[in-house]
Amino acid sequence: MISLTDSEIKESIKILETLLANTYLLALKTQNCHWNIVSPTFSMLHEFFGNQYEALSDANDEIAERIRMLGGKTPATFQEFLKLTTLKENNNLQTAEAMIKVLLSDHEQIISELHAALKALDRSTDEGTIDFLIGRLRDHEKISWMLRSHLTLNQQPNS
Ligand SMILES: [Fe+2]
Repeated sequence: MISLTDSEIKESIKILETLLANTYLLALKTQNCHWNIVSPTFSMLHEFFGNQYEALSDANDEIAERIRMLGGKTPATFQEFLKLTTLKENNNLQTAEAMIKVLLSDHEQIISELHAALKALDRSTDEGTIDFLIGRLRDHEKISWMLRSHLTLNQQPNS
């Protein structure tokens, strides 16, 4: 991309690749909850997880296209995503509470990795990517708030 150095581009692409793998995995994990939730409040939770899956899925497209804008080749296979991701897959989450806790912890992990990425980019002139990552950060903060609001008060960290 015009005016960026090769090493700035490489650094941005590396961050975006990990973010893409994590967002892809988290989208699938969220969709798993959308499909497999069993609860007296099924309709609400099914839709709640469905909306989050759709938002993450849109984000995947934006992250992938940002990598292309920087001239990189977008990873797009499960094999690559599993190699790049820093999240873990889960099986058999039985309750809504277990699902919400796992998703919340994944969003929080992505948030802290985004903070670290933004710190690493503090000398980069790739403001386009920096601004994009800040947008991703805000979206994960919003979903985290929504997930956290489904947990009862005595499970919140600062009560
Ligand atoms: Fe659906």
